[in-house]
Amino acid sequence: MRIAKFMAAAGVASRRKSEELIKKGVVRVNGRFVYDPATNVNPEIDEIYVSGRKIRIPDEKIYIMLNKPVGCVSTCHDDKGRRTVLDYVKGIDQRIYPIGRLDFTTEGLLLLTNDGELANKLMHPSHEVTKRYYVVVDSYVSQDEITQLERGVVIEGGKTAPARIKVMNATPERTELTIIIHEGRNRQVRRMFETVGKNVVFLKRISVGDINLGPLKKGKYRMLTNEEVAYLKSIK
Ligand code: URA
Repeated sequence: MRIAKFMAAAGVASRRKSEELIKKGVVRVNGRFVYDPATNVNPEIDEIYVSGRKIRIPDEKIYIMLNKPVGCVSTCHDDKGRRTVLDYVKGIDQRIYPIGRLDFTTEGLLLLTNDGELANKLMHPSHEVTKRYYVVVDSYVSQDEITQLERGVVIEGGKTAPARIKVMNATPERTELTIIIHEGRNRQVRRMFETVGKNVVFLKRISVGDINLGPLKKGKYRMLTNEEVAYLKSIK
């Protein structure tokens, strides 16, 4: 097996990023540094270390849904000592990591796994699955502004792809809506609303593709069902 493929399956990074790591000289096979991404390894016998840490493909794959609360970073460690998603997912003795990100101030559906191939696939821009968010804005959002947001607005990094918005309630002080986007750019929903002068005061991800948060309580997690896992794997 190609070493970059092994690294992706072990959850280190995507294959392309793994190849960059190899060229950088942080990967050792059986004690020797390798620099050639075309190197083949045998996962049964070879010992592979990345930046001094031994990596392996997990025997048992785990797929978790967490209802991430506000005030928690969607990573596994934080240099600033803030609460991380791992503080909410206890009793799992495998190294798991989140599929994508949610802001510190955003709550809702976050998937975690130790399946590197699936995580890399879902995070790759070419597979960007739809994500549905419940949004509260602290003012009135007009139909004209909704249309602009749906057609695409220019934020740093370029125009956003078409989105779908459903307004549930709109008053001069507050607008409640859901938005479906299929990109995953940094702070995307908040920045989209900023382009039309609106301030998002509450943001919750309620679904990723066909996977819904449902009644899962804030700060709680559950294993995905076999059907949900099969669905994620079937995404092309
Ligand atoms: N959009 C945002 O602005 N924040 C998130 O966390 C997710 C989407």
